[in-house]
Amino acid sequence: MSDQDLQGQTQDRNKAWGGVFTERTDKRVEQFTESISFDKRLYDVDIRGSLAHARMLCDVGVLLPEEYIKIERGLLEIKSEIESGQFEFLIEFEDIHMHIERALICKVGDVGRKLHTGRSRNDQVVTDLRLWVCGEIDAVDFGLVELQRAFVGRCESDIDVILPAYTHTRRAQPVLAPHVWLAYCEKFERDRERLRDCKKRVKSLGLGAAALAGTSIPIDRSKTAEYLGFESVAANSLDVSSDRDFVLEAAFCLVQIAIHTSTLAEEWILWSTSEFNFLKLPQAFCTGSSIMPQKVNPDVLELIRGKTARVIGNLQALIVLTKGLPLAYNRDLQEDKQPIFDSFDTIKSILTVAAPLVSGVELNREWISGQLDYGYLDATTLMEFLISSGVPQRTAHGIVGKLVRIAIDANVPLSKLSLQQFRSVYDAIGEDVYKILGVKSAVAAMKSYGSTAPEQVNTQIKKWKQKLSPVK
Ligand code: ARG
Repeated sequence: MSDQDLQGQTQDRNKAWGGVFTERTDKRVEQFTESISFDKRLYDVDIRGSLAHARMLCDVGVLLPEEYIKIERGLLEIKSEIESGQFEFLIEFEDIHMHIERALICKVGDVGRKLHTGRSRNDQVVTDLRLWVCGEIDAVDFGLVELQRAFVGRCESDIDVILPAYTHTRRAQPVLAPHVWLAYCEKFERDRERLRDCKKRVKSLGLGAAALAGTSIPIDRSKTAEYLGFESVAANSLDVSSDRDFVLEAAFCLVQIAIHTSTLAEEWILWSTSEFNFLKLPQAFCTGSSIMPQKVNPDVLELIRGKTARVIGNLQALIVLTKGLPLAYNRDLQEDKQPIFDSFDTIKSILTVAAPLVSGVELNREWISGQLDYGYLDATTLMEFLISSGVPQRTAHGIVGKLVRIAIDANVPLSKLSLQQFRSVYDAIGEDVYKILGVKSAVAAMKSYGSTAPEQVNTQIKKWKQKLSPVK
């Protein structure tokens, strides 16, 4: 039977669902409801899903082997037509699922009409999206590893650089530069773990839940799951097509990555100002001003920070989209795609520029070390020195506070106070106090696990190098 014969009575014979309709769809409605303009990027996962579904239909005897072969051949041809730009996308065919099914029927005839047995677009779209999210998670993971490698790759050459570390954007205590780099590695490692964990829940097979109630066709969903590499089969058909938890969860994982890269961007924008002057950004990652000839602006970092806003906005959109929906599928859910596509695209683009930027940054070592005497970065170590000699912490804190006040008034670092000045505040202080003063001694005095003590940092560098080998 031709398309015309099958649905010849309807005004809308082109639509797969046109049978019951006696009026043609308004063009404006087609414009309004279409998703092909953005869901065409799901073509590959849609075809993968259909191949697995067809193979399973063949296993259970719904399709004959020769029918399966025809369908497989047709789907693979469609895939290469899409990839070579020969495929025509038309808004009247709504979405990627309809386009591919229609093209298949055109290619292989009636047998193509059997493909949609035991499934609906509701479970199909969610399966497509799950497959797509899995692939994107892997791509983001790759980008995160590259960024971690960029940080670890500079640890050994920066090992002798001491930086002031901040709380409240006020100088706090000295740390080794690699301690800062590895702080970012830890954050990105948690981001990777979060994605891995999310992926377990993404890999749940919905296909075969059909519209919402399952199907009377004797399908074998565990086979479909196996063919798609899914880890589990969703146990409730109503849950399947209404569930977008996995999209929200992935969107949040991406928000957390964006927040981490935004912290890095903000910190390095500050550090590259003439006021801080800690680092020089690679010129290839800066842009100029059209009016002020002297400017070299940190636009890449600013956009890394700025793009975080849309990644957060996308999560917000998804939360609001799903918050008031009853079971099961509602067309609102078509609106899940652009936000999640955009979040993955944005994060991948951030990671693509962040890794080479991190490798290319140069520390202004001399300037940094010339500034370390300012800010009383060794005050906390001095307090701990007193604690070690038996002074209670609160008392030691008060003593050092007074000493810092004396030093501020004399405009000198703590190491330049005389023994008499020390003893004017605390008479039991010994001459060995000078051994722990100064930023180098303060760093060396650290002992705890995870601290900036040189041996601790070196152990961590080794750990990271092993974990991420090969580090470029
Ligand atoms: N384009 C739709 C979406 O993205 C596919 C599912 C349509 N299902 C339906 N019953 N209208 O959600």
